[in-house]
Amino acid sequence: MNQNKTYAPIGVFDSGFGGLTVLKELVKTLPDCDFLYLGDNARAPYGSRSFETVYEYTLECVNALFDQGCELVILACNTASAKALRTIQQIDLPKKDPHKRVLGVIRPTSEIVGHYSKSKHIGIFATNGTVLSESYLIEIEKFFPELNVYQEACPMWVPLIENNELDNIGTDYFVKKHIDHLFSNSKQIDTIILGCTHYPLLAPVILKFLPKEVTLLTQGEIVANSLKDYLARHEEMNKLISKNKQLHFLTTDDTSQFDEKASIFFGSSIHSSHISL
Ligand code: DGL
Repeated sequence: MNQNKTYAPIGVFDSGFGGLTVLKELVKTLPDCDFLYLGDNARAPYGSRSFETVYEYTLECVNALFDQGCELVILACNTASAKALRTIQQIDLPKKDPHKRVLGVIRPTSEIVGHYSKSKHIGIFATNGTVLSESYLIEIEKFFPELNVYQEACPMWVPLIENNELDNIGTDYFVKKHIDHLFSNSKQIDTIILGCTHYPLLAPVILKFLPKEVTLLTQGEIVANSLKDYLARHEEMNKLISKNKQLHFLTTDDTSQFDEKASIFFGSSIHSSHISL
């Protein structure tokens, strides 16, 4: 661990654009910190890939962020959190550098979801990979065993978002289809987790078809508050993070395409650099 280095941003990783919904809130909540975003756009989506592949890709991206100076990396991707986080934390980090940390997005969401539901019936929209991993079921059970949790995999949603197809009737069809299917499991669902960091980009379409009384939880603010709390409890890590308000972006794909779409999703202009893994 290099205590004297000057650039040690918080690494934020996602398969593509979805992690920007988390980054946006992280920057608001921790405005002084430096952040380095890495989107593995060249290999997105991860949602339907095997455990081995998601683990291998995620580890490569995490190592790339460590090589750029990060001491702490947030997997701003549910699929990677579901399929790779535990192995990275338990097997890879102790070998690489036991002082570095990698945190995910599933636990912070699972820790608070029960506070939102009166009916005790909640729904989760996520990728195939996240649903099949059952990570949400396992984590929520630890904090709120009384909840009835219904999962719905939405494999078309990420490709629609990655291709910026938010505003067409094909997208409406796929959004309504999964909402109807989720509610066919239980009419009592009153809270829904968007358990994929891409999905907030689809929120305006989702809200068109969702019953008005249902609470829709997005993860950006939840993860940001949880990280703020983590840093308050881990002064040794907080001290290492550089705080010069710098924001940098890396993509494994074409930078001009990334900049164009990422600027729309992030809400301000972005100039990324290419990274080969
Ligand atoms: N943003 C992602 C997630 O939270 C990944 C989606 C994908 O690449 O399929 O699951």
